Amino acid sequence: MGPPDPIIGLNDAFKNDTNPNKVNVGVGAYRDDLGSPYVLPVVRKAESLVSSSGLDHEYAGIAGEQEFVDLAMEFAYGDDCVKIKEGKVKGVQTLSGTGGLRVMGEFLAKFGKHKHIYVPDPTWGNHIPIMQNCGLEVKKYRYYDAGNSGLDFSGLVEDMEKAPEGSCFLLHACAHNPTGMDPTESQWSEISKVIKEKGHFPFFDCAYQGFASGNAPKDAWSIRKFVSDGHELALVQSFSKNFGLYGQRVGCLSWVAGSEEEAKRVESQMKIVIRPSYSNPPRHGARIVATILRDEGMTKEFVDQCKGMADRIGGMRTALRSSLEDAGSTRDWSHVTSQIGMFAYSGLSKEQVERMRDEFSVYGTLDGRISMAGVTKGNVEYIAKAMHECTK
Ligand code: LMR
Repeated sequence: MGPPDPIIGLNDAFKNDTNPNKVNVGVGAYRDDLGSPYVLPVVRKAESLVSSSGLDHEYAGIAGEQEFVDLAMEFAYGDDCVKIKEGKVKGVQTLSGTGGLRVMGEFLAKFGKHKHIYVPDPTWGNHIPIMQNCGLEVKKYRYYDAGNSGLDFSGLVEDMEKAPEGSCFLLHACAHNPTGMDPTESQWSEISKVIKEKGHFPFFDCAYQGFASGNAPKDAWSIRKFVSDGHELALVQSFSKNFGLYGQRVGCLSWVAGSEEEAKRVESQMKIVIRPSYSNPPRHGARIVATILRDEGMTKEFVDQCKGMADRIGGMRTALRSSLEDAGSTRDWSHVTSQIGMFAYSGLSKEQVERMRDEFSVYGTLDGRISMAGVTKGNVEYIAKAMHECTK
C-alpha cells in the first residue's frame, strides 16, 4: 500500500473527520466566504455559450485547441509580444500545469543539455516526483530563508552561478508555492542576468496569473522581462486557480525559441511526447477559457472576478494575523500579511501541523503551508486559536 498524497490525500482525511468545526486549509482551491467552491460568473456565462454553440466532440489535435493556445500565450507574454509576431513562440494545450510540467520534463530528459533540473527549495511538492518520473535528477537551489521568513536571494544567486552551465532552472513566475514569497522586480532582473551569463535554461511555472496581485499583466512581469531580455525559455500555465477550472485540467505549455523553424521543431517533439501519453487533451475547459479571452468584455469580467478572489484572500491574511494577536500569540506573524498568492507559509513545524489536525481538525500540509483560500470570516478565529495553542 502506498502512502496518501501529501496534498490531495488530505481531502480524504478531511472528509472522514466528523468534527463539525473541521477546516480544510490543505489543498490550494479557492472557497468563497461561506467555505463553498466558487464558480466565476463569467465562467458560467462562457459555459452556457459553449454548450449552446452546437460544437461537436471530435478529438482535438495532439496539441489541443489552437485558439486557446494562442490566447493563453497572449495572456502570458502580452498582446504586444514581438516574439509571438515573429513566430518564435509556440505552444500546446496540456492537462493543466501538472500535465505541462510532465510533458516538458520528458522533453528535457530527451533533449536537455543535462539530465537534471534545479527547483527552488522549497517548491510545490509535486514538482519533485513529476521531474523524477521523467528520469531527471532533481537538484535544489536556495530560495527561502526560514530565519528571516524571507527570500534567500544571495543564496539563490550563488547556486545559479555555481550550477553547471546550461542547467534548466524551474522558476515560479508569481505567488511562489508554498512560500508566497516572490523576488522583487530588481531581483528578477538580476536573476535574468545570471541565467543569461551561465547559459541556463529558464522554465517558468505560472499557476496564479491574475490571482497573485489581482493584476494579470503584473503577475506575468517576470516572464515578460525574461522574454525582453532575449532568453529562450519555456512556460507552463495552469488555468485551475485564476479561472477556477480545477477539475477541467486546462493548461498550456509554450516555448520561446531562437527562430520560427526551431519553435516548430520543438512543437513536433512535444507532440511525440504527448501522443503515447494521453493522445490529445480534453476540449471543454479550453473552450471556456478561449470564449472568455477572445472577448474583451468577458476578459474584463474575468479580471474583476479574479481580483475579487485575490482581495478576499488579502482580507483573510489581515484577519488571520489580527486574530492570532487577539488570541494572545506573541510570535511575529507579519509574514502572513506580507506573503502573496494562495498560501501562508506559516512557519509551523510538522509536529505543530499534526497537532492542529489531531486536536482541532484543522488540515494543513505538513510543511506548515496554510491555504488562505480556505480561510473565511466564519473560521478565521478558530484557525487562529488552533495555531496559537499549537505554537505557544
Ligand atoms: C496545491 O498546491 O495545493 C495545488 O496546486 C493543488 C495540487 O494539485 O497540489
